Amino acid sequence: MPTLNWIGKEAVVNHDKEVPFKLLRKVKSASVGENSQNLIMHGDNLEALKALMPFYVEKIKCIYIDPPYNTGNEKWVYNDKLNSPKVKKWIGKVVGNEKEDLSRHDKWLCMIYPRLKLLKDLLKEDGVIFISIDDNEHCNLKHAMDEIFGEENFVCNIIWQKKYSPQNDAKYFSNMHDFIVVYAKKKNTNGYIGGWTRNLMNRSEKQNARYKNLDDDPRGIWKPSDLSVKTYSASTDYPIKTPSGRIVNPPAGYCWRVTKEKFEEMVKDNRIWFGKEKSNVPSIKRFLSDVQQGIVPSTIWFREDVGDNQEASKEIKELFKDSDFPFETPKPVRLIKRIIEIASQNGDIFLDSFAGSGTTGHAVLDLNKEDGGNRKFILVEMEDKVAKDITAERVKRAIKKYDYKDGFEYCELDKPLFNEHGNIEGTCDFSQFATYIYFTETQTNIDKKKIKGNLVGEYNNVDYYLIYKGKNKNVLDKAFLKKIKKSENKKVIYADWCSIDDDILEKYNIEFKQIPYEVKVY
Ligand SMILES: C[S@@+](CC[C@H](N)C(=O)[O-])C[C@H]1O[C@@H](n2cnc3c(N)ncnc32)[C@H](O)[C@@H]1O
Repeated sequence: MPTLNWIGKEAVVNHDKEVPFKLLRKVKSASVGENSQNLIMHGDNLEALKALMPFYVEKIKCIYIDPPYNTGNEKWVYNDKLNSPKVKKWIGKVVGNEKEDLSRHDKWLCMIYPRLKLLKDLLKEDGVIFISIDDNEHCNLKHAMDEIFGEENFVCNIIWQKKYSPQNDAKYFSNMHDFIVVYAKKKNTNGYIGGWTRNLMNRSEKQNARYKNLDDDPRGIWKPSDLSVKTYSASTDYPIKTPSGRIVNPPAGYCWRVTKEKFEEMVKDNRIWFGKEKSNVPSIKRFLSDVQQGIVPSTIWFREDVGDNQEASKEIKELFKDSDFPFETPKPVRLIKRIIEIASQNGDIFLDSFAGSGTTGHAVLDLNKEDGGNRKFILVEMEDKVAKDITAERVKRAIKKYDYKDGFEYCELDKPLFNEHGNIEGTCDFSQFATYIYFTETQTNIDKKKIKGNLVGEYNNVDYYLIYKGKNKNVLDKAFLKKIKKSENKKVIYADWCSIDDDILEKYNIEFKQIPYEVKVY
């Protein structure tokens, strides 16, 4: 496979591992409802995705992202964040001295690469990612995705018709579409069956309208389908006598689809249609109840079916009547609903880490209302002026206007778990720390219901304990030993100090890990 190279690659290829782990702080006043499992996070998605890891590693079924397209057009306030001071500062910090030599494509790759790596870690084994992009970075994105997800997991490029009217003053061509690039975390190939599978899409009323019941068949509506086929076989080339007495043969070079015996069986079963006058070339009656109860998704998505940019703007204006341009580049709700419909089952979690106006949250809630589903969403938005006042506000207004029966928690990214002296941040509580420790030890998420006192959880025959009740009080001593569960399992115990001799620890199969030095960095 050809390798993708750009200035700054070396600095960012493993940058996802260096991102500090930050704590999350819930903001009750900006949330809607109590204890919703939907989440809207304010912060740079690099840090936000990292902070989500101990809670959601391999738990996300579907990711949709709509990152900056890198058009170079400075007027795109929200969509071209590569020139925003925050991203510039980040690139300067990570890429260092090379930053002056970076072209805008280098910068874009530096931005997207570590984020895609974290997104992949969050996806379930049978998960999938959909990425909106246009010509500016489509090629680079495809190469980066081939490297990170593996080219064998590429599913398709979807063409989305984003507008209706061609631009007659376009210098070359009028650009009418965006791409949506789709990769599975793992595709079902070479006998592997644990990967992502697509759902069929619901049949539309327009498609069903082609089915009628021209002869009042009690089996329901049907449509005539060709009895002749082009792959010629002499054994199914025979004359047919219509009920009116007319003799019909297949067209030249064609034969019938079924054998003579099968045809006669079908006539008896009233599955052949000769027209109202009973003298037409026969066709097969294809009953709606017999066809696949859904449609295989195609790679071209038309505006009539999933909406376009204009529809998206209308939707957001409908919710922000008090503002002329609440958000410049939203996507239509129907587009995201199509992705959800194809990608997931009821109860799955969706993530959008370039949330903008929060269309993904709106779409999840809307589909849940439509089909009684219980899907959940996580949205991340970096811009201070957008996260609360547009992303969260849009979802909040949609909940009210369309009577959705769910809410969301609004979170800010808080301080890093390790402060500048390498110590655990003082505001970190037991539950937050336990979640992090369990995750770094096991690479799985903690089940909070199973925390019993200091016993944080069990994994692969190891019991994990945390002693963390305040500064200078976290000691592994004899009194603590008496309290721990008797089991054959090895025990890993985190504390500031240990006053027990090594031979006793060995006798009880205990490994002491000192906070903060032996807390792993993820
Ligand atoms: C094109 S918009 C997304 C629009 C969205 N799909 C919608 O329907 O409204 C991209 C958004 O990503 C945000 N963004 C850019 N870089 C980000 C980052 N590093 N972390 C989080 N959000 C970011 C921008 O502020 C912008 O709101």
